[in-house]
Amino acid sequence: MNEEAVKQLTKQGCMVEKDAAEAISVEDVEMIKELDATPMFVSSKMIEKLRERCTMVSNGGSGVKTVQKQKMTVKQGGGTEAETESTEPQQSEKISRTEESSEETAVETDQEKTQEQSTSSEEMTEDLEKEFETKSSYFDKNKTVEIKDTGVREKRDTKVEIMDEKQITQEEKDVPEFLGYYNSRYDKMKKLLTRRQEMKSATTINRLEGRSEGEEATTIGFVNDKYSTNSGKYIVELEDKTGAFKALVDEREGDRLVPDEVIGVSGSMGGDIIYANSVIRPDLPIPQGTNSTKDKIQAAYISDLHMGSQDTLHKRLDRFGEWLSTEEAKHIGYLVMPGDLVEGVGVYPGQKEELEVEDIYKQYQLFEEWFQKVPEDIQVIVGPGNHEITRLAEPQPRLPKKVFPDIDDYNNFHRVQNPQMVRLHAIRSKGIKNLMYHGYSFDDHVDKIQDLREKAYEEPHHVMIDLLKRRHLAPTYGDNMISPEMNDQLVIEEEPDVFVSGHFHSHANTTYKGVNVINSSTFQAQTDFQKRMGHEPDPGKVTIVDYKTRKTQVKQF
Ligand SMILES: [Fe+2]
Ligand SMILES: [Fe+2]
Repeated sequence: MNEEAVKQLTKQGCMVEKDAAEAISVEDVEMIKELDATPMFVSSKMIEKLRERCTMVSNGGSGVKTVQKQKMTVKQGGGTEAETESTEPQQSEKISRTEESSEETAVETDQEKTQEQSTSSEEMTEDLEKEFETKSSYFDKNKTVEIKDTGVREKRDTKVEIMDEKQITQEEKDVPEFLGYYNSRYDKMKKLLTRRQEMKSATTINRLEGRSEGEEATTIGFVNDKYSTNSGKYIVELEDKTGAFKALVDEREGDRLVPDEVIGVSGSMGGDIIYANSVIRPDLPIPQGTNSTKDKIQAAYISDLHMGSQDTLHKRLDRFGEWLSTEEAKHIGYLVMPGDLVEGVGVYPGQKEELEVEDIYKQYQLFEEWFQKVPEDIQVIVGPGNHEITRLAEPQPRLPKKVFPDIDDYNNFHRVQNPQMVRLHAIRSKGIKNLMYHGYSFDDHVDKIQDLREKAYEEPHHVMIDLLKRRHLAPTYGDNMISPEMNDQLVIEEEPDVFVSGHFHSHANTTYKGVNVINSSTFQAQTDFQKRMGHEPDPGKVTIVDYKTRKTQVKQF
């Protein structure tokens, strides 16, 4: 065993596998140190791969094109999991633009699935031809071959980390899951609430019962129900695992209470009721500075393309796709899309008459065709919305591979769950945490709160900020399509740097306590259904966030 090498790694918090400890050398340790993130576990296989890659780099000269295929998911606790074939276990989450020559037409199609390396551009062209012959059904020869690299964009590194991806079960849910779900919601919300100074003395509900009139009372509970009184105040029924209790809250607070949310109440005892001085929500903490990246890198935010609808604004969308290859867009490294890629089928009564494409698979095909316009060094992250092929109940699983037969193996295409926290560009910096949530619960939430309802669609940031304050993406269980997973995955446990949603087909770009709050417009014109509902969309707006300066701009397409 090379004790010195092992010692150096364990000093950095690595665990070294037994076989790896035998095989490792000081040179290997140097290679590991050069990785972006120190791995938690070093295996002999990893050392082998690192050595291979080192040999490959030292042998590689001009004309060698390395096609990277792996997509890595960073799991909670820092471990990584390869979704597809992986040749570079740790560093491979960092996806760099591959070496290109100007003659190489960067065709991102199935040929990349089968080719890891080719030794010259001639061989590449030959292989492409072969692919066209053998897999002609996959390609439209005249359409898919495009030169992606106009030479305008600069080479850049990008990095996408899907944080703490959730376990989503498809089985039917019963009493244990419901109980598990509610317990989990309570525990998570309690943890967030007790971080607040005014909630430090909170007790469980059963402990309130022995208290005498006038004594201080602070507790946490689910909102079971609320009734308005003659004075305009509200009586709220609160419940936790130990019992139920009533609280009297003022009108302003009472108006904003929604069923199933978990709140803190602080006040004084009045017999069998708490006279509440305040209702406390966990909220975001006061920011201690702003996260930013060392590199000049930008992210663009769009959503709700609704491919397949007769109202999809293809020309505007194409213009945006083409703009991504221009000088002006040279710093865009990420494109974030929180849902409703397609119009779907059977989403609302009479939808069929408004469809341009009736087959949902062909709707996704339209998306794939549009995707060809996106330069290969822009990482595209897509989550599902309520019009997709996946289940409606949230959390929604990732869109299935089968709807993206042509692009799923691209390095720069990432399917994520809804909701999902994604850390972008953690290169020489902590990166920028993006909370992606489509926004299906917004309709129900604004319906319950008059303040929010009045300008909900024109100013969608109000509902988004309201949910950030509640630290929950869908506080009311009953009216939303929520799947009671044993764990409530819609609690906003971690503070994001960017909170992005779609769904309302409006646009918002603001900040709240250091968080960029973005509602990312749409590329669908007003549908007949929206006309009937009186909803005027605000399409074609692209929000761009500069991760280095955290300044934003909005471009109209
Ligand atoms: Fe939509
Ligand atoms: Fe939607």
